[in-house]
Amino acid sequence: MNIIKVLYLAIAGAFISGCASSSPDAVERIPFVEQLIRQMTIEEKVGQTAQITLDVITKGDSPYSSYEPLQMDSGLIEEAVAKYHVGSVLNTANNRARDMQTWHHVVSSIQKVATEKTRLKIPTLYGIDAIHGATYIAEATMFPQQIAQAATWNRDLVYQAAKATAAETRACNIPWNFSPALDLGTDARWPRMWETFGEDPYLISEMGAEVIKGYQGKQLNCSTSVAACLKHFIGYSTLASSGKDRTPSEISEISLREYHLPSFQKAVEAGAASVMINSGLINGIPVHSSYDIITGLLKNELGFNGLVVTDWADIENLHNRDKVASSHKEAIMLAFNAGVDMSMIPYNYVQYCELLVELVNEGQVSTERLDDAVRRILNLKYKLGLFENPLVKPNSDVFSKTHKKIAYTAASEAITLLKNEANVLPLSKTSKILIAGPNANSMRTVNGGWSYSWQGEKVEEFAKDYNTILEAVENKFGKNNVIHVPGVEYDMHGRTYVDEHRVNIDAAVEAAKNVDVVILCLGENTYTEKPGDLHDLMISENQEKLAIELGKTGKPIVLVLNEGRPRIIRRFADSMDAIIQTYLSGNHTGDALADILTGEVNPSGKLPYTYPMFSNSLGTYYHKHSEESKTPEGMYNYEGGFYPQFNFGHGLSYTSFAYSNLQVSQKEFDNSTVLSVSVDVENIGEMAGKEVVMLFSSDLYASIAPDVKRLRRFDKVLLNPGETKTVTFSITANDLSFINAQGKRVTEPGEFELTIANQAMTIKLIK
Ligand code: BGC
Repeated sequence: MNIIKVLYLAIAGAFISGCASSSPDAVERIPFVEQLIRQMTIEEKVGQTAQITLDVITKGDSPYSSYEPLQMDSGLIEEAVAKYHVGSVLNTANNRARDMQTWHHVVSSIQKVATEKTRLKIPTLYGIDAIHGATYIAEATMFPQQIAQAATWNRDLVYQAAKATAAETRACNIPWNFSPALDLGTDARWPRMWETFGEDPYLISEMGAEVIKGYQGKQLNCSTSVAACLKHFIGYSTLASSGKDRTPSEISEISLREYHLPSFQKAVEAGAASVMINSGLINGIPVHSSYDIITGLLKNELGFNGLVVTDWADIENLHNRDKVASSHKEAIMLAFNAGVDMSMIPYNYVQYCELLVELVNEGQVSTERLDDAVRRILNLKYKLGLFENPLVKPNSDVFSKTHKKIAYTAASEAITLLKNEANVLPLSKTSKILIAGPNANSMRTVNGGWSYSWQGEKVEEFAKDYNTILEAVENKFGKNNVIHVPGVEYDMHGRTYVDEHRVNIDAAVEAAKNVDVVILCLGENTYTEKPGDLHDLMISENQEKLAIELGKTGKPIVLVLNEGRPRIIRRFADSMDAIIQTYLSGNHTGDALADILTGEVNPSGKLPYTYPMFSNSLGTYYHKHSEESKTPEGMYNYEGGFYPQFNFGHGLSYTSFAYSNLQVSQKEFDNSTVLSVSVDVENIGEMAGKEVVMLFSSDLYASIAPDVKRLRRFDKVLLNPGETKTVTFSITANDLSFINAQGKRVTEPGEFELTIANQAMTIKLIK
């Protein structure tokens, strides 16, 4: 496609989306920043939009790797930051976590050049993926991954974890975090499912808003705050039929607005400072080249006035991979005119800078667009306080016991008891235990990807001070009571997550004969993004065989799942007496699990996704009625039900809760009514426990087929034995709305069913 035609299409996009671009005017004018912009040359402005990866400016044989121990290369820093005015750096070097002192050295070496050897002394903006704690900081507290945080259904814990992550990240002079992921976790096959808050748009929105609050604090210029980066805008998680990462999606306007948009909208309203763009294609259009999505939807419609950054190499991908641009130059033009403000290049910044300067000089990217991008970047640097304080002082106290306690509590509230036949759990402390399975003795698998390294393969080296499941169980039940025979093992230092070896199922079966109970730890080794692509959602054949053979021994088996996505366990789930999902709950998974096994902690996690039973049935709980037909009467009585292994929201406790007395303030309401919905919840068991109270609504009839039900509110409450609490929620007609065939959010008059656990009532919206 030639450049003129592309430019025309980009402009035409403005009219298609119905809003001539007014967004540059809405971006805040900060006098200090405006003064700078007036003084900047085109080259200086272009440099600000460039982001490079750390390996580019360290000593090493090539830009792709660094020598160890790490040494910053002052010549290379000057070339990038002083000569080409590069405005941002990301990532760690050599794909490995660094300690606080090293981070101080890294960032101060860059800031020194930026603030002393450049004309305008503009500080550099350092960004990193601190997605469950400060991923690349050796001393960091590793919290549960997002999927496990969602399973806590505890807003405050999610907020606390984010706040602690921000403090630890900023203490290392990194003020920008590429998190949270607000993608919909609807496809169990996707290797980034665990980076999401699960499948429900409302749950994702609520947790996302807590993360923004925790990261950004009251002010970005505080030494414990970081700028959040919402990712990946938008529709990244909907994939081609293979379920593989970065495969093209087909998303209707209705689905995009109904399911994908709400969490981003809420996070933008919560003041999120930056947004990263979806690496993939929607309906054939790479999102990085979509004016309608970046400028039309994000900047104009949602009113996002912060910084938009690309994902890794995604401008080049418009040319190299997606073939919508016939050259790198055209790709840069497309992305900038679509509304991108900063390019995560990450290596060849010289070419990028030179081409963007040419595009501006030729008028193919307007100076207004360039100024808008630079303004958004400098505004963020200003708000972060980087002009005044480009560096904070090292303070290792930040890696505190308080943070570790939050991480432990989050793990203990995430872990979800899915099955507990004949109350096999909790276990007696004198039980003789066999621990088997490849996930029993690994810090790598409980943390997942993005832990000390991208794929998580370096975890064992950094997390030695924490307990694996085996170590925690030995500490709790006594070493003499625990035998460890894995039966199947992973290659713990390998980069590919699929390798399994040392398979000796007979040894595990033999060992089971001498114990009271088997704790079988199955799941996955670590991965993320494309390297985590999957051909088959069934749990691995070796692990399945191990479970089946152990099941035949007749010993009680507690299956502990430790996995980033729900792998299919149908063929042996029935022979497991208890099933516990630990997800990827971080460095404290082992300890939290051991406390649940003994009953010192009463489990309260609930599934944030539908756990599939069959590989061909990967639907979400909010499917359409046609996906769940009842068996018809008469001779054509085929079955057409929706059969997950476990439902969204499922999770058992060691106590029982009884619901009663569902009340609503008025049964007929209009668009201005605030309804108050309440229910009584009683702990009718023997042990104190936390219960997640979930309010669902079903639109009984609507102009487009309604979902069977949708989560509208939730709250987590602690109840002592015999205690009753009344939980009250406020909702309005807008909370019951949906996107109609015209792409508009509406609530149509008519009846709605509200349900909380086994309680139900019908309410009616009148005109
Ligand atoms: C991922 C992003 C991440 C970025 C920077 C990309 O490959 O898709 O989620 O923030 O790398 O590390």
